[in-house]
Amino acid sequence: MGVAIDVQGLTKSFGSQQIWNDVTLTLPPGEISVMLGPSGTGKSVFLKTLVGLLKPDKGSIIINGDDLVTLKEADLYEVRKLFGVLFQDGALFGSMSLYDNVAFPLREHTKKSESDIRNIVLEKMDLVGLSGAEDKLPGEISGGMRKRAGLARALVLDPEILLIDEPDSGLDPVRTSYINQLFIDLNAQIDATFLIVTHDINTARTVPDNIGLLYHRHLAMFGPREMLLSSEEPVVRQFLNAQTIGPIGMSEEKDADELAAESGQELPPLPPIPLQLGTSDGTPRRAEKAPGEWCRENGVTPPPGSFESGNAGVPGVNQSRDEAATR
Ligand SMILES: Nc1ncnc2c1ncn2[C@@H]1O[C@H](COP(=O)(O)OP(=O)(O)OP(=O)(O)O)[C@@H](O)[C@H]1O
Ligand SMILES: [Mg+2]
Repeated sequence: MGVAIDVQGLTKSFGSQQIWNDVTLTLPPGEISVMLGPSGTGKSVFLKTLVGLLKPDKGSIIINGDDLVTLKEADLYEVRKLFGVLFQDGALFGSMSLYDNVAFPLREHTKKSESDIRNIVLEKMDLVGLSGAEDKLPGEISGGMRKRAGLARALVLDPEILLIDEPDSGLDPVRTSYINQLFIDLNAQIDATFLIVTHDINTARTVPDNIGLLYHRHLAMFGPREMLLSSEEPVVRQFLNAQTIGPIGMSEEKDADELAAESGQELPPLPPIPLQLGTSDGTPRRAEKAPGEWCRENGVTPPPGSFESGNAGVPGVNQSRDEAATR
């Protein structure tokens, strides 16, 4: 089921600037993982390294027994066909219509007829809510539409691995909810391993099976959603609850004075762990586990009120879909 991505000791620098060091994690096959981290911590660089566009200084990325880091260019080209990637900026060709942009991977990598290509392109554009915009140029549409066109293009080859960089930046809250629902439904239908980079805490708390946090040039934590949402580790706790109290400052790390000023301040209690977002037709998620299962298996007491229905977000941080719908 799905493809695992096994990352071991990955390290990346640009010149003398180290981006991250010794990143080790396994993206479980067929599951949805989310990668979080303050701006500039190298989340986009991580995605580009996973797909082989950037070479790490050290470490390995094992997929189906191949190490992408040492693979020859010709073999890498083959492995890349497993990936669908939505880059942060959409990376559309400015002089091509949305239709031709979405059709591009099919024309490049398959021998399908134009009529087959047309069916696939129209289906994927419909899936992301872009029916009717086929003839538009990327420069003529909104940022959110460009994101969705990039997503349609990432889906046309039926990828086994989907890497998605900030699908929700520039999207309104309703479309963010639709896109999140689309990811969960797609994940239940197609046998793909997802890695989503997001700054949306509500998405991070309700959509994935696993969460990772990049911070200060290393992977602070990676594991099942319930593990991070019940964690008292200061950086994880601060980030996943969007708090100002904690080690993360406006320019990444707080200095000693700032931290001293905070010592004594009481941290608000951990909010309840919300239920995971389900599929739209009620079929089980691909990696569905009973709410609270990880906590029970690991002897962790979840915050009071966890896993109660209707509790699908962090109050005051972001509206959940259910809340938005009832207003
Ligand atoms: N091709 C490159 N050459 C040199 N430095 C780069 C390159 N790409 C990224 N960087 C640097 O790597 C660091 C991490 O960048 P990256 O875009 O991965 O951050 P990010 O976590 O995705 O941030 P954001 O949340 O703002 O998207 C930045 O300091 C950036 O300037
Ligand atoms: Mg980025």
